[in-house]
Amino acid sequence: METVLKKALNIEDLRLMSKKRLTRALFEFIDRGSEDDIALKNNKVALERIKLLPRVLEDVSERTAQTKLFGKTIESPLVIGPTGPAGYVWYRGEIKLAKAASSAGVPFTLSSTANTQMERIIEEGGGSQWYQLYVWRDIASSLITLKRAYDSGFEALVLTVDSTVPYNREFDIRNGATFPVKITTRNLLDTLTHPRWMFGTLGSYLLSEGHMPRYVNIEMPEGLKSDAIKSFLTKNDTINWDYFKMIRDKWPRTLLIKGVLHPKDALMAAELGADGVIVSNHGGIANDAGIAPIDALPDIVSCVGNRMTVLVDSGFRRGSDILKGLALGANAVMIGRPTLYGLSAAGEAGALRALKILQAETLRTMAVMGVKNINSICRDHVVLPNEVPNWSEL
Ligand SMILES: Cc1cc2nc3c(=O)[nH]c(=O)nc-3n(C[C@H](O)[C@H](O)[C@H](O)COP(=O)(O)O)c2cc1C
Repeated sequence: METVLKKALNIEDLRLMSKKRLTRALFEFIDRGSEDDIALKNNKVALERIKLLPRVLEDVSERTAQTKLFGKTIESPLVIGPTGPAGYVWYRGEIKLAKAASSAGVPFTLSSTANTQMERIIEEGGGSQWYQLYVWRDIASSLITLKRAYDSGFEALVLTVDSTVPYNREFDIRNGATFPVKITTRNLLDTLTHPRWMFGTLGSYLLSEGHMPRYVNIEMPEGLKSDAIKSFLTKNDTINWDYFKMIRDKWPRTLLIKGVLHPKDALMAAELGADGVIVSNHGGIANDAGIAPIDALPDIVSCVGNRMTVLVDSGFRRGSDILKGLALGANAVMIGRPTLYGLSAAGEAGALRALKILQAETLRTMAVMGVKNINSICRDHVVLPNEVPNWSEL
C-alpha cells in the first residue's frame, strides 16, 4: 500500500486511483456533481481565476500552518467534511477518515448517512469530531439522532440546509447506483469487474457482519426494504428559520450551518446564534446553477466575519486554493472529495495521504507567498478576477 501511495503526488493522482478501484456507479457517485456538472466545474474555475500576490525577502525558513478553530488548536486550517458514502468506498471508512483526521491534527465531520455507529467512531476514531445533521421528513427521527450525537460527545453540530429535495443526478440512475448498496442486474457487471472493491469492501462487511452496509445512526422503523428506506430518507422541505432556532436551543455546543451562499442567510444565522457558517454548494451537487462558494465568500465575510467563524468548501484541491480561501477571510477550508478519493484508493493511509499532500502544499505555497504564519494571510495576498490592485497609498 505504501508503495502505491508514494505514486500519489497530488489529489488528482488519488482520484485516478479511486477511479480504478471503485465501480463506475460508486466512483461517479462520489466524483460528479449533478445535472450537467456545471457547478462542479465552476468551483474549480472560480478558484483558478483568483490569483495570489506574493511578497518577497521575508525569512520563511520556519513556517506554521497551525491555527485555532472554536478555541482549539488545529495543525492546519482544514476540516474533513461529511460525506455519506465513506463506509461504502472502504470497510468502516468513517473510522478510517476519523483516524486520518486525528493523525493530521484536524477535525472530522461524520455524515448523517454513515454506516458505522456514531459511538464507535467517537471511540475508535479519536481526535476532534463533529456531527452533520440532515432533517428528514420525519423531524422526530432527526431530533433523536441529534440527542444521540450530543450524548456520544461530538464537539460540534453541522446542520446542512442546502439539500431540501433529492439531487438531480441522472448518471446515478443510468449507472444503477443504489443506496444502501445492492447488487442488481444493472450493476452486476460493474461490480464483478472491480474485484478489489467487491472483495475488499463488500466482502469485508459480508464476512465480518453477515450483511451489506446499512444506515445505523438514523432512527427508522425496523425491517424497511430499500424503496421504503429511500422514501424515509426524504429530506424535509418545510424547514425554516424557526426550525433552526429549535436546533439552536437543543444543541448547546458549537453549531454550524452548512450550505449558505447568500450574505443575508449568513446574517440571519448569526442573529439566531450560529457559531459558524459553512459557505458551500455541496461540492457542486446541490444546485448545478449555483454560484461558487469562493465567489460568495468575500461578501459573507464582510457581513458576519467579525461575529462568527466562517468556513468555505467545494473544489479545494491544492494548498494554494486553501490559501485563497483564507486570504478572502475564511477561518478554515472544509474538504469532501480529496479525502474520499484517498480513502477509496487506500483506506486510512490514503485519506491521510490526501491530508498530508494538502498540508505540504499549503506550507510550500506559504513560502512562495512570503508568509511564515498562516494567520497572517490576508486580503492583500489575493487579486480577484478583473481586479486592478490599487497602489495609490504607496
Ligand atoms: C459523495 C459525497 C457525499 C456527500 N455527503 C454529504 C453528507 O452526507 N452531508 C453533507 O452535509 N454534505 C455531504 N457532501 C458535501 C460535502 O460535505 C462537501 O460540502 C463537499 O464535498 C465539498 O466539496 P469538495 O468535494 O469539492 O471538497 C457530500 C459530498 C460528496 C462528494
